Amino acid sequence: MTLLITWPESGPETELRRTSDPSEIKRELARLGLRFDRWPLRDEETVLAAYREEIDVLVAAEGFATVDVVALHPDDSPDWPERAAAARAKFLQEHVHEDDDEVRFFADGAGVFYLHLDGHVHAVLCEGGDLLGVPRGTRHWFDMGSRPSFTAVRFFHLDDGWVADFTGDPIADRFPDFAAIAAERSACP
Ligand SMILES: [Fe+2]
Repeated sequence: MTLLITWPESGPETELRRTSDPSEIKRELARLGLRFDRWPLRDEETVLAAYREEIDVLVAAEGFATVDVVALHPDDSPDWPERAAAARAKFLQEHVHEDDDEVRFFADGAGVFYLHLDGHVHAVLCEGGDLLGVPRGTRHWFDMGSRPSFTAVRFFHLDDGWVADFTGDPIADRFPDFAAIAAERSACP
């Protein structure tokens, strides 16, 4: 279940909003200038082929130059824990992408985007079927958890523009991580 939680940027002691209603999530994120949508889940092997129609519409609307798929799922290889930890650590602290948006469609699995906007932190737990577009320049971080498991389609305007500039603000350390939010989602009405 997709979930949006909003706190003041000072910390997660006060919860200002918690909703798992996709239309409310879409409305709130649109108010903040973010794209959020739900695409129907498809169980086909090749994600790009399965979602070709929606992808083509979005690419035409937004002028994306490149579309690819990133997938990470637990396996039995000895280096999995190390690969998982490295992948998680990469975007776990607050950063911005100055030159391109961060647009992701989750075909399966889950991850939490944290958006630091307007004096608030908005956590969006994305799951299979969720499309989220974070505009360039938005302060955010991403937690895929200690056992990352997801398949995501990525959309880029520039071939080399998607670089993370870290803000140096340790704000991410103050807020619940992926595991806490995934465990809490059953508390939704
Ligand atoms: Fe990012």
